[in-house]
Amino acid sequence: MRRGRSVVLGALAGLAAALCVACTPATPAQDERGEADELDLERMIRQKRYAPYEPAEMFDDGAVMRRPPEGTVPNDRVTGDPGLTRGVAGGAYVDRIPVPVTLELIRYGQGRYEIFCGACHGIAGDGESEVARNMTQRRPPSLVDARVQAFPPGRIYQVIVEGYGLMRSYEPNIPLRERWAIVAYVKALGRSRAAALDALPPPLRERALKELP
Ligand code: HEC
Repeated sequence: MRRGRSVVLGALAGLAAALCVACTPATPAQDERGEADELDLERMIRQKRYAPYEPAEMFDDGAVMRRPPEGTVPNDRVTGDPGLTRGVAGGAYVDRIPVPVTLELIRYGQGRYEIFCGACHGIAGDGESEVARNMTQRRPPSLVDARVQAFPPGRIYQVIVEGYGLMRSYEPNIPLRERWAIVAYVKALGRSRAAALDALPPPLRERALKELP
């Protein structure tokens, strides 16, 4: 039985191969045209449809523009503690960074700062940058001088979220945790400027003495 079946299969395969010699393969150009005709990408434009704001009998209120059901919340709405999400709580800037500040967070903030802020405010945060040097309007200020360092963390956070004067908002580019990481790093940069050499642990003091001009 088994033998018989494989003989039949073999014969069929031979026949298929013989037939295929007769087929001429389609050129790629033909293929593309054929496919486009089949897809008919314009059909949704041509179909019967309502235009925006047109009256529509099919709805009880006669309007084609539908209202979201009562209580609908946009899925991109920022929810949660405004101190955390906006840097402002009860009408005041938050005066403590509302996420745990760890060395890891500050290091992370450094990377983000250097990507998003350093080009204008300077890698050292002192406002020395190519952008600042070429700015004809208000320059990006130093973030390590006493004025900005006196800002509560919520204020720096708010500048990142909302922008400030000539500086645009970075809300769409920098997510919440990264913003606080940057705020922590800006504060750390300020501290590093003001640190007294004697206050450093001995190994760091030695390194600072070696490396500082
Ligand atoms: C493209 C350049 C540019 C980038 C990038 C930029 N800034 Fe600014 N920033 C400015 C300018 C310019 C000002 C001054 C705006 C003004 O006075 O109108 C400013 C002002 C500020 C201020 C001071 C606000 C005040 O009250 O005086 C802070 C704080 C600040 N930026 C933080 C940041 C942080 C943090 C980042 C990174 C997330 C950042 N900036 C990225 C250009 C920039």
